[in-house]
Amino acid sequence: MKTLVKTLSVLVASAALAGAFSVQAEDKAAANTAPVGQVCKQGEPCASAAAAAAGGGGAKSGEQVFNTACTSCHSTGAAGAPKVGDAAAWSARLAERGKDGLHHSAIAGFKGMPAKGLCFACSDDELKGAVDYMLDKSK
Ligand code: HEC
Repeated sequence: MKTLVKTLSVLVASAALAGAFSVQAEDKAAANTAPVGQVCKQGEPCASAAAAAAGGGGAKSGEQVFNTACTSCHSTGAAGAPKVGDAAAWSARLAERGKDGLHHSAIAGFKGMPAKGLCFACSDDELKGAVDYMLDKSK
């Protein structure tokens, strides 16, 4: 009988301890999740820090986009790409589709020209800038 009482009191004590631990754990969990719950909205300082960390910190210039994404085909004429500097090739395309049409080709693709020139991280404006850069260098 004495052992039974002892066993019971140990059980009760450990149950109380377990309760105390679980309360502590919940407090900790709440503290750990608080910062994660904060949403970083565009335009807030935390959002621009994230954008900067993602690389670039703002839009790339047409020249930068060209040098990283377009030069492989448009400097060599690979697959029939109009070469930068080839005024005849570019003016014919410009006459046919206009600047807007060429912008659209760069974004959506055109025959052998892959959509976005394979620069999937490029924004539409960055792609348009790269087209304008090539047109500028091909007059
Ligand atoms: C994998 C090769 C390749 C890459 C990379 C590439 N292009 Fe092209 N591009 C082509 C080819 C090929 C054509 C010619 C398509 C045709 O008329 O058959 C072309 C044509 C174009 C045209 C003319 C489309 C028209 O309507 O006449 C534009 C504008 C253009 N590319 C922009 C870009 C830009 C901007 C980039 C970089 C962001 C780029 N390209 C990257 C292959 C490429």
